[in-house]
Amino acid sequence: MTDSLFSPLELRGTRLPNRLMVSPMCQYSSPGGVATDWHLVHLGSRAVGGAGLVMTEATAVAPRGRISPDDLGVWTREQADALAPVAEFVRSQGSVPGIQLAHAGRKASTAPPWEGGDPVSPDDRGWVALGPTDEPYPRETPQPTAALGLDGIETVVEQFRAAAERAYAAGFEVAEVHAAHGYLLHEFLSPVTNAREDDYGGSFENRTRLLREVTAAVRDAWPDDAPVFVRISATDWLPDRESWTVEDSARLAPLLADAGADLIDVSAGGISPDQQVPNAGPGYQVPFAETVREATNLAVGAVGGITTPEHADALIRNGRADLAIVGREHLRDPYFGLRAARALGVDVDWPVQYRRAKPSTN
Ligand SMILES: Cc1cc2nc3c(=O)[nH]c(=O)nc-3n(C[C@H](O)[C@H](O)[C@H](O)COP(=O)(O)O)c2cc1C
Repeated sequence: MTDSLFSPLELRGTRLPNRLMVSPMCQYSSPGGVATDWHLVHLGSRAVGGAGLVMTEATAVAPRGRISPDDLGVWTREQADALAPVAEFVRSQGSVPGIQLAHAGRKASTAPPWEGGDPVSPDDRGWVALGPTDEPYPRETPQPTAALGLDGIETVVEQFRAAAERAYAAGFEVAEVHAAHGYLLHEFLSPVTNAREDDYGGSFENRTRLLREVTAAVRDAWPDDAPVFVRISATDWLPDRESWTVEDSARLAPLLADAGADLIDVSAGGISPDQQVPNAGPGYQVPFAETVREATNLAVGAVGGITTPEHADALIRNGRADLAIVGREHLRDPYFGLRAARALGVDVDWPVQYRRAKPSTN
């Protein structure tokens, strides 16, 4: 039978009740990196709303890996403890809780978007960012950036591993390594940002080494019956420069499978302000997911401009992706999943508390 948006997806021993995932979305609302009531309500609502997998926002594995001073973190036990009720509530709704593990690299230490998103100085609440080299992300006032030494790289791998251990103990069932959008792991992948001359720069093999090591470390810390995802930027969207391309992503995917990844979440862009996004219309990144899917036996998730139930369902039915990942439409409507089921004529369970409002049983 053809899979559809409301077919379960089995990855290792973990069963997603449907193919709809809430895309990771930063909330910049965690003083001290600690989750608050906001996270319980925000992520909890989307579990109530019918998404099969609710992924947290980028959750920093180290203080210097935050994008903004108030980013969510999982580098301490206290932070993991604060996330545990969120994971538990998501699970209580029949949804699977996932956590995106992240390091912002040279794009760290910025103000939240609603304060303009400019760098925050180390003299204020900011810090010196870390990158493959000391070249900062290009901006009007570039953030001071330090190159990671070999010790620093080893530390990053261990930070991802330890964060994964804490996240699993907190109750998450899916770990997603954030290697997209111009943050640290993507900065190592791309020749635009990686001019290192050691084992972590230069050749494709060297540039992919850190991501392979991080993926293997997270896999190692994550139980055998629970899946590890990796989010990549399939292209830098810099066609006129030496950069990371869709062909590179197709070549990377089997290596990530070898390192223990179970699904590639295929996004794009973010490495440079010069990127040329040709058309950010509906499903604008889906062809990249298809290319990656063809290059490996791994499952893939498609993201970007998926806003309607019919579109999400068609991606699965037509075999273009295994998971439909929906971001902003979930901010517009936390109940997108329930609405999608209704639109597609699928009978799904509503929370018992809401049953009297379920259209077919009115
Ligand atoms: C408010 C907001 C915050 C975001 N934060 C993250 C994040 O923490 N991690 C990430 O990988 N992508 C992040 N993204 C990108 C989304 O996950 C998604 O890939 C993007 O919005 C495209 O999907 P959409 O068209 O369904 O919104 C964010 C997007 C938005 C709108």
